[in-house]
Amino acid sequence: MANAFDTFTLKDITLRNRIVVPPMCQYQAVDGVPNQWHEIHYPSMARGGAGLVIVEATAVSPEGRISPGCTGLWNETQAGKMAGIAAGIKRAGAVPGIQIGHAGRKASANVPWQGDDHMAEDDPRAWQTISPSAVPFGANLPRVPREMTLEDIKRVQDDFVGAARRARDAGFEWLELHFAHGYLAQSFLSVHANRRTDGYGGDLAGRGRFMRETLAAVREVWPERLPLAVRLGVIEFDGRDEETVADAVSLTRDFKSLGLDLLDASLGFTTPEANIPWGPALVVPYAARIRKEAGIPVSAAWNVDTPEIIRDVLADERLDLVMLGHRHLSNPHYPYTLAKAYGIENPGWKTLPESYAHWLDRYK
Ligand code: FNR
Repeated sequence: MANAFDTFTLKDITLRNRIVVPPMCQYQAVDGVPNQWHEIHYPSMARGGAGLVIVEATAVSPEGRISPGCTGLWNETQAGKMAGIAAGIKRAGAVPGIQIGHAGRKASANVPWQGDDHMAEDDPRAWQTISPSAVPFGANLPRVPREMTLEDIKRVQDDFVGAARRARDAGFEWLELHFAHGYLAQSFLSVHANRRTDGYGGDLAGRGRFMRETLAAVREVWPERLPLAVRLGVIEFDGRDEETVADAVSLTRDFKSLGLDLLDASLGFTTPEANIPWGPALVVPYAARIRKEAGIPVSAAWNVDTPEIIRDVLADERLDLVMLGHRHLSNPHYPYTLAKAYGIENPGWKTLPESYAHWLDRYK
């Protein structure tokens, strides 16, 4: 029976607690290169007390960015800046993680507060998107992607490997592959996006092939002693949910045999027609099922973020790690707030740097 402030060990890495800052795009990079924004933002999150801080969805190639403001790891300039961010997170006591991904047909978009839609075709910053099939997402993202050739598939997989190697060399100790949220990898898995008739489409084995091959290739360069996670969209809420969740269990078993250490269960987001029942801990039941049936540690986000919910999902062993996104944006010291809510003695010393903790715990 775990609680939020228990440590968590996976491979050679021990998190100081079960609280994670999930990947959250900042849309502040130029040419994929992180800057002072990221250098301050990520260590600040780590100072708040979380055990693991995962740097935002970082593109494996220029066309894999969601927006022109997304970070990348396709060159050494980006990797050099990322090394400073990883060191800053670590110095603040958290384990530095990073999520790498490719946005597929959802790429070439305006940042959320400037529309969250595809950039106009004549926008000089826009680029041609790619996807398993020439099927657009629809709604705010109507641009038709180019169907990927087998050469494209191999190139993108090589890009994942290159980014993983740079993440390793930059000092990250936890790698998450972004196989969720309707981006490229999830598009291969989803019948909403994948109409291929070759070995990368059709049945679950075909639709899951891109993910399996990419994971196996990354595992070869990502050190055995460091955790490798996948964020997978395990449910769409599109009326096919029993099948989708069963597919996710089966795929997770495959991933495990290929070297996966933890499954981060999330949403599919491959169709604008989904009817998501937003509410507390909505992904947790599916994460828990995968944990049990695939026999692997799991994490999840999406409203797992009150002291009571956090206590219960960890105590019942439905999740191994809780991911708190909005909470950390509104209060980067949320772990301290949580420790106070639990009545833990000296909550500052339990969660914050000594130069904060001393004053907070001494002069209450
Ligand atoms: C996100 N989310 C997200 N997810 C992901 O896998 N990669 C990413 O880069 C991002 N980017 C991102 C940016 C911002 C500003 C937000 C708020 C969210 C989703 C995020 O990781 C998390 O799953 C959600 O925020 C849900 O968790 P909470 O906020 O309910 O705790």
